[in-house]
Amino acid sequence: MLNSIVADLAIIKERDPAARGTLEILLCYPGFHALVLHRCSHWLWGLRLAPMPLLARVLSQLGRLLTGVEIHPGARIGQGVFIDHGMGVVIGETAVIGDHCLLYQGVTLGGTGKAHGQRHPTLQTNVVVGAGAKVLGAITVGTNTRIGAGSVVLRDVEPNSTVVGIPGRVIHQSGVRIDPLAHSALPDAEARVIRNLMERIDVLEGELVRTQACLRELAAGRPLFETCRGESQNLKDREILEFLGESPGITG
Ligand SMILES: CC(C)(COP(=O)(O)OP(=O)(O)OC[C@H]1O[C@@H](n2cnc3c(N)ncnc32)[C@H](O)[C@@H]1OP(=O)(O)O)[C@@H](O)C(=O)NCCC(=O)NCCS
Repeated sequence: MLNSIVADLAIIKERDPAARGTLEILLCYPGFHALVLHRCSHWLWGLRLAPMPLLARVLSQLGRLLTGVEIHPGARIGQGVFIDHGMGVVIGETAVIGDHCLLYQGVTLGGTGKAHGQRHPTLQTNVVVGAGAKVLGAITVGTNTRIGAGSVVLRDVEPNSTVVGIPGRVIHQSGVRIDPLAHSALPDAEARVIRNLMERIDVLEGELVRTQACLRELAAGRPLFETCRGESQNLKDREILEFLGESPGITG
C-alpha cells in the first residue's frame, strides 16, 4: 500500500507543473487524499469478514465527504494514478484503473443497469479521461487512450486512440486521424448506418434520374427499353432497422 501511495505522490510531481513540493501535495491535492483513503478502504473491503466491508464503505463515504471524490472500496486502482482537482469523480465497484491513468474532475466510471458482476469500465495503463467524461458499462479502454472532456464512452476503445463526443467516437488511432465515414475504418454502428443511408440516397437519386428519363421518353411517345427497377426499396434495411432497435421483419 505504501508503494502505491509513494507512486501516487511521485506522479503528481511529474505531471502537475503547479505542484511545487511534497508538502503542498500532501496538503492540497484532494485527488491524492481520496486515493490514500481508497487504498485503506480497498484493503478493508478485501478482508470480507463482517464488519470490514461496512467499515470500508463508511471510510469511502468519509473520503467522499472530505474530497468530493466517490470511489467504491471494491474498485481496483493501479499505481501512479492521478485524479486532478477531484471534485465530482465517481468510480464504481467493479471499475479497474491501470497504472499511470489520469482522471480529471467530474469523471464517472459507472455501470449501466442493475446486473451484478463486472459492470464498470476497465481502463488499461496510461489512459487520460478528460473533465466531465462518462465511461459507462463493462467496457475496456485500451492503453494510452485519451478521452475528451465531456465525452460519453459506451463501447470498447482500442489502445492508442483519442475519443470525443456523445456517444464517444474515435477521432485518432495510433496518431492517425480517423474519418468516421471511411469504409475501411468505421469506428461504430452509428457511422455504419449513416454510410448505409448515404448509399441508399445515392441509389434513390439514380432511380429518380432513370424515372425522369422514362417520363421524357413516354412524353415524346417513344417506347420504353428500360423499366424502373425499384432496387433501393430494401437496400440495407436490415442494418438500419437493427440499429434503430426495430425488427427487420416489419417492413414489407
Ligand atoms: C480529446 C483531447 C485529448 C483531444 O486533443 P487533441 O488530440 O489535441 O485534439 P484536437 O484539439 O486537435 O481536436 C481534434 C478534434 O476533436 C475535437 N475535440 C477535441 N476535444 C473535444 C471534446 N472534448 N469534445 C468534442 N470534440 C472535441 C476538436 O474540435 C477537433 O475537431 P475537428 O478536427 O473537427 O476540428 C482534448 O481535446 C481533451 O478534451 N482533453 C481533456 C482535457 C481536460 O479535461 N482538461 C481538464 C483540465 S482542468
